[in-house]
Amino acid sequence: MEYYFKNISVLQNEKPTAFACAASYPRFDESVAADTLRFHKGIPAYRPTNLISLQERAAVQHVQGIYCKDESSRFGLNAFKGLGGSYAMFRILCEKLGLDYKTTDFRDFQKEEIRKQCATIHFATATDGNHGKGVSWAAGLFGCSATVFMPAGSVEARRKAIEEAGNATAEITDYNYDQAVEHAWNLAQQNSWILIQDTAWEGYEQYPEWIIDGYLTLAAEAAEQLGNAVPTHVFLQAGVGAMAGGVLEYLLSCYRDKPPVMTIVEPTDAACMYLSAKTGDGCCHTIEGNPVTIMAGLNCGTPCRVIWPAIRDKADFFCACDDIITEEGMCAYAKPLGNDKSIVAGESGAVTFGLANRILRDEALRKLFRVNSDSVILLINTEGNTDPEDYRRIVYGNVAVK
Ligand SMILES: Cc1ncc(COP(=O)(O)O)c(C=O)c1O
Repeated sequence: MEYYFKNISVLQNEKPTAFACAASYPRFDESVAADTLRFHKGIPAYRPTNLISLQERAAVQHVQGIYCKDESSRFGLNAFKGLGGSYAMFRILCEKLGLDYKTTDFRDFQKEEIRKQCATIHFATATDGNHGKGVSWAAGLFGCSATVFMPAGSVEARRKAIEEAGNATAEITDYNYDQAVEHAWNLAQQNSWILIQDTAWEGYEQYPEWIIDGYLTLAAEAAEQLGNAVPTHVFLQAGVGAMAGGVLEYLLSCYRDKPPVMTIVEPTDAACMYLSAKTGDGCCHTIEGNPVTIMAGLNCGTPCRVIWPAIRDKADFFCACDDIITEEGMCAYAKPLGNDKSIVAGESGAVTFGLANRILRDEALRKLFRVNSDSVILLINTEGNTDPEDYRRIVYGNVAVK
């Protein structure tokens, strides 16, 4: 069933089962999250990110709680993506170097003989920015190197940030995201580089799976920090869906007795999960052309096929949001109510807050999403001001704070 509201389309998921065309994220169980958490905790820069309670906002909007897991401080990278890139790189290096990932940790990568081998390994990836920054940072940590290809329209500030994060060169191409991935794949084949990509295709599924595993760390931290505040509603923004799918799987397994309402949120013009769910044949579908949105991290044309079946079968709602929704979210995070903490959230980070605020203010939307005064809402701010110029324009320009 589909519903249209101002700037927002909502697809209520029929949750079909038994599609023939894809398996589910095959290896999820809580031990996977324990492995990723163990690895991340071994990195000297590791700190759990904050879970921030927006209590005054919750009171004004007549819900029990609104919590934001603020990933903008993750590893000093201004976004959550280093979790996936670093864990996948760790698993790939363990595989290449014949190390057992269960007993190897970050300290082992400081040994001279291992570093010598790592120095000969080169990675490639395609990304709008944050995944590339994570890959560059991880390459620096492990003593490897990387090349990052960015789609047309990527901003120079993000390109520079990738190079400065670790050990990568970054290039803005004329391609859209999917074409940039193909380009990275072709060059990796020609140069014996290792492609470390968060989207998947037939025969390229293992590395994206490890990237998804890496994101479980943030979900595990959030569940621990929430304690008794059991979330009833979780809003997850999606590009290819790697983060949303992994976090959804983890939280549904954590709260299996009382599963939260799970909503997947995308930009209107790049809503490939929405399109795939609406098409209803169980398969991933692609948004053609060059979609334009300020939510650069969510501007992806095709769902990651490894995680799509989990999202397809387990999400309750898909929402496609116009850019104004994330602008509202960015402003509301930056200029909070009362004593709530101010949060710096970038374009791809704030859309879920913008959407949640619209839902909470509108009786029809509250009813549709089954929100009431006992509801506890969990949001993830996936990035800080990764495009500082646009951030200033939006937050200190003339978007109305609601
Ligand atoms: C800030 C931010 N949020 C969310 C996402 C979406 O993650 P995924 O592509 O795994 O769906 C991205 C992807 O790059 C991102 O950079």
